[in-house]
Amino acid sequence: MKSQQSVVLVKPDALQRGLLGEIIHRFERKGIKLIGLKMMRLTDEVLDQWYAHHKEKAFFGDLKKFMQSSPIVAMLWEGIDAIPVVRKIVGATSGREAEAGSIRGDFSMSRQLNLIHASDGEESAKKEKGLVFSDEEVVEWQSADECLFYSSEELGE
Ligand code: CMP
Repeated sequence: MKSQQSVVLVKPDALQRGLLGEIIHRFERKGIKLIGLKMMRLTDEVLDQWYAHHKEKAFFGDLKKFMQSSPIVAMLWEGIDAIPVVRKIVGATSGREAEAGSIRGDFSMSRQLNLIHASDGEESAKKEKGLVFSDEEVVEWQSADECLFYSSEELGE
């Protein structure tokens, strides 16, 4: 079983709508561990790299404008299979299509204003982590209730 790290951005729409606490609460309740947290404004340079795969898309300009309309909150979450686990909690890209019970499914009606970004694989997680967190901003710690969320086999004991 593999421990993974997933990078989450709480986007400007979620911050403006006061959904930061709700979003953090959902990940905490699930049992994954917060090991990085910061509020920041995304620069052109970071967004060009972050969304390099969308550079040719018609919505790229609007997406950048939206992502710079307010600060965002970047988080790093860790746990076994954290990348797919986080994506399930977040839901499908469009809020209108996202499953009820997911963050986007419960709070979003838009494809662009979809509240949150989550890494889609290990390679992108590594790249995204490097774009927003310095080494000192990643804080590893021992969670006291880990044994209530994972079996000893899952913990490799
Ligand atoms: P995210 O998970 O951050 O990945 C790329 C982002 O681009 C996506 O969430 C949306 O905010 C945005 N996006 C994706 N598709 C569209 C689209 N068709 N029109 C506008 N924005 C989009």
